[in-house]
Amino acid sequence: MSRRVVVAAAIVAGNRLLLGRRGDPAEMAGRWELPGGKVRPGEDPSTALCRELDEELGVQARVGDRIGDDVPVGTEYVLRAYRADIVAGTPVARAHTELRWVDAAELAAVDLLDADRVWLTDLRALLG
Ligand code: C5P
Repeated sequence: MSRRVVVAAAIVAGNRLLLGRRGDPAEMAGRWELPGGKVRPGEDPSTALCRELDEELGVQARVGDRIGDDVPVGTEYVLRAYRADIVAGTPVARAHTELRWVDAAELAAVDLLDADRVWLTDLRALLG
């Protein structure tokens, strides 16, 4: 069976990256991630990411280039990251317990989900 694609956004403003803190499931609660979610069957991944960012953060976004490599997550998913820019709205934590804009030093210190951690070098490069 092929893995379901989960898309995630690297949203950078100035020298800061937007992270969300997961409230669930229990084994991921309290850890930080790039916002995003599952691509629906037949859905274009960029379209899925725009939809997820609208649902999770209440923003309209423009999805840009991919960053990093795809990261397998368990046996079920493959995680894919894109640059994204907010074109309208201010992020609100609708799906996360908290949102946070981190600089490079803070990014190194937060408890990122294991899969997202694979992109640390790529993410740091975006923050200059
Ligand atoms: O957000 P959602 O629960 O739909 O994502 C599906 C799965 O993808 C999560 O359970 C998690 O394992 C993984 N994920 C991740 N990093 C992200 C977003 C999702 O590892 N930034």
